[in-house]
Amino acid sequence: MVMRVFVAGGSGVLGRRLVPQLVARGHQVTATTTSSAKLGLVEQLGAEAVVMDGLDAASVGEAVAKARPEVIVHQMTAISVAHAGKPDMKHMDQWFAGTNRLRLEGTDHLLAAAEATGVTNFVAQSYAAWNGIREGGWVKTEQDPTDPMTGTPAEPGMKAIGHVEDVVLKAGGAVLRYGWFYGPGATDDLVEPVRKRQFPIVGGGAGYCSWVHLDDAASATVLAVEKEARGVFNIVDDEPAPADEWLPYLAACAGARRPMRVPTWLARPLAGEVAVTMMTEGRGFSNAKAKRELGWELQYPSWRQGFKAELA
Ligand SMILES: NC(=O)c1ccc[n+]([C@@H]2O[C@H](COP(=O)([O-])OP(=O)(O)OC[C@H]3O[C@@H](n4cnc5c(N)ncnc54)[C@H](OP(=O)(O)O)[C@@H]3O)[C@@H](O)[C@H]2O)c1
Repeated sequence: MVMRVFVAGGSGVLGRRLVPQLVARGHQVTATTTSSAKLGLVEQLGAEAVVMDGLDAASVGEAVAKARPEVIVHQMTAISVAHAGKPDMKHMDQWFAGTNRLRLEGTDHLLAAAEATGVTNFVAQSYAAWNGIREGGWVKTEQDPTDPMTGTPAEPGMKAIGHVEDVVLKAGGAVLRYGWFYGPGATDDLVEPVRKRQFPIVGGGAGYCSWVHLDDAASATVLAVEKEARGVFNIVDDEPAPADEWLPYLAACAGARRPMRVPTWLARPLAGEVAVTMMTEGRGFSNAKAKRELGWELQYPSWRQGFKAELA
């Protein structure tokens, strides 16, 4: 069935892969950017392009009302250098301040606009890379809680994600917990520090992480839209893996030298508590539910194929 889909944040790394997949399946897509300079880019993806500020209730209400969608997809973050400055794991609260506002206020504005226009099909972005609860096994399902990262600079971000999940689930929508993105537009940020050997393995590198290629994240999102999915889904690949495995492999694919090893006591003051936790105690995620309930099939079932394909 052809649907009218509103993608809030259609110009981001995921939006740029998602919009063409929706259009290819015949859907009529309206996609947003905050910048009139990017309207042409969004149109080239096949969408009707609109400028919208997700932090401004009136702007959101107007854009949604005009598009008259049947589905709203929330992919608004402000993580890029243009919105947030240089990535800073050590001061994640500052780096993620804009994203956290989009996840708190922006989500509320979009849900209010959905309610005002009678939209009940709502799909929102959440996160499931290394942030599973740090107890028990290394791989978590949707039943397991995520890590609140209490007392660290990641805590406000985890609270903001918790808000998205609470209000979207209450509204009967779907929450897609994406793994760590890689793929067009998402790989350079990752590889540059690895090439410069500024991305060391911390401690034993035992902490797990889940990855997902942008095209697979997009295809799962299309399925959630079309199936009018409800509930939480981990959108990650088949192979959650410890840093000690994926990081040297990523470096080899990128033609970089083997990553350095840094003891935990030294990494903590240099890279901060969040990076240390991720590398030493992170928990990855299972995609069994998304495969079972959405019928999701991955183009890159493992980061092993995906890193090679992206970096060769
Ligand atoms: N799960 C993950 O690993 C994950 C998830 C998300 C992002 N990331 C990473 O973060 C980096 C940056 O992501 P990105 O390139 O997608 O950029 P981004 O800066 O996070 O922007 C994402 C989208 O949100 C929009 N946006 C930003 N501020 C907004 C606002 N106030 N109101 C409405 N929309 C707003 C952007 O629009 P405009 O910029 O066009 O204005 C864009 O369409 C990438 O390296 C990506 O891989 C990773």
